Amino acid sequence: MASSTLASPLWLSRSAFLLKTSLLPSGTRALTRGFTGPRQPPTSLSPLSLKPSFKHLSAIPSASGIFAQKSSDLERSFAREDVVILGIETSCDDTAAAVVRGNGEILSQVVSSQADLLSRYGGVAPKMAEEAHSLVIDQVVQQTLDNANLTEKNLSAVAVTIGPGLSLCLRVGVCKARRIAGNFSLPIIGIHHMEAHALVARLVEKDLQFPFLALLISGGHNLLILAHGLGHYVQLGTTIDDAIGEAYDKTARWLGLDMRKGGGPALEELAREGDANSFKFSIPMRQHKDCNFSYAGLKTQVRMAIESKNLSIENNSISSTSSQERRLRADIAASFQRVAVLHLEERCERAIEWAMKIEPSIKCLVVSGGVASNQYVRTRLNHVVEKNGLQLACPPPSLCTDNGVMVAWTGIEHFLCGRFDPPPRADEPEDSMFDLRPRWPLGEEHSQGKSEARSLKRARVHPSLTSIIQGSAQQEV
Ligand code: KG4
Ligand code: ZN
Repeated sequence: MASSTLASPLWLSRSAFLLKTSLLPSGTRALTRGFTGPRQPPTSLSPLSLKPSFKHLSAIPSASGIFAQKSSDLERSFAREDVVILGIETSCDDTAAAVVRGNGEILSQVVSSQADLLSRYGGVAPKMAEEAHSLVIDQVVQQTLDNANLTEKNLSAVAVTIGPGLSLCLRVGVCKARRIAGNFSLPIIGIHHMEAHALVARLVEKDLQFPFLALLISGGHNLLILAHGLGHYVQLGTTIDDAIGEAYDKTARWLGLDMRKGGGPALEELAREGDANSFKFSIPMRQHKDCNFSYAGLKTQVRMAIESKNLSIENNSISSTSSQERRLRADIAASFQRVAVLHLEERCERAIEWAMKIEPSIKCLVVSGGVASNQYVRTRLNHVVEKNGLQLACPPPSLCTDNGVMVAWTGIEHFLCGRFDPPPRADEPEDSMFDLRPRWPLGEEHSQGKSEARSLKRARVHPSLTSIIQGSAQQEV
């Protein structure tokens, strides 16, 4: 069985998320962030959940753990509304699940956040995050099904994030998904976390067609992607060191902000009080005429600014400072945010130029990932796309940060193209080895987008989603 073959060695968990981690003491408690999204009354649920007949579809095991079905009959033979998929997300610090119908209707979603852990200990420690996921995963999934007034029997398939992310965390979601899929004989779909961030924009904007450009900005990733089609992506740029979300989180911590609602939101709020031109931070990578990103240097500039003003970066809660010092911190926050986002703007300008040469029919820039929930980011990027005659597609904030809806929806997109695994064995042992992809590129690099600076970090990366899907498509022919 292709999806239960290879163990991901632990070293692979030192992924892009490494920069968010630090050693945490034990003892965890996860918070339920709440339920959002529309709910479907039980009466409208079709009792006939769509399950593909494996006898009729010739499944080809691909290296991806995704079985490429030869037939695209699924989309033709079933109404989209009959497809109901459970999505499970545990790649980093949120335990999330959702049930989504094939037509994009969100039946329910639940997110249990580890924000309190992050706030207490300063980052995501894999072992602790794994424990926190394990504690709540059953409850999160059960609540998701209950809120939708469904049981597993009503599902068509289960979609679960298999990478990139922390292997220990990914494993919790994958185990849960496989248990459900095995017990209820459901197909299973392995999902790329960053593809899910991008594709959820197609749930929100029903008219959003391929090709489009996507800027994906989160705690561990900064990607500029040209999306040619489902599973077919070209990477125009990525970060050579930190992602923007990591820079927001670190700056927020140094400024003594309340991290319980997340560093990014706290910094965005404080920045509203400050003067964005008071600290002259330099915009990263201007001499590199490409679409790559760097945030490590900006972080250093911020830290030096804090130190130059004799502000403490330890035990420095903003709630116990004078109004004058609060103002100073707000100035630093606003100046940081201005430059962090200017860097995004400049790279998007160039990416639009590159993308229009490759795919002149592009009409839209999708901006997604946790940082895309920031209002300042959205406003500034909207100017960039308008100036270039494009449209901005930015999912609502609750669908920008990690969530189960994006996983379920991406599952739907692949499922309807016939890409899924058949159900695992119901008696699959708990300690089975799964194919997890802690470091998993979305697409191949555009030739102009390659950066020497990243060559060392590229060792031991899984083949990209795009190359796997194209490889299995060739096998089919
Ligand atoms: O996509 P996401 O939820 O998780 C990852 O895949 O990493 O992104 C989380 C990141 C965190 O760094 C968080 O601080 C940032 O997104 N973030 C924000 C905002 N909301 C979340 N950054 C800036 N402004 C926000 N409003
Ligand atoms: Zn994410």
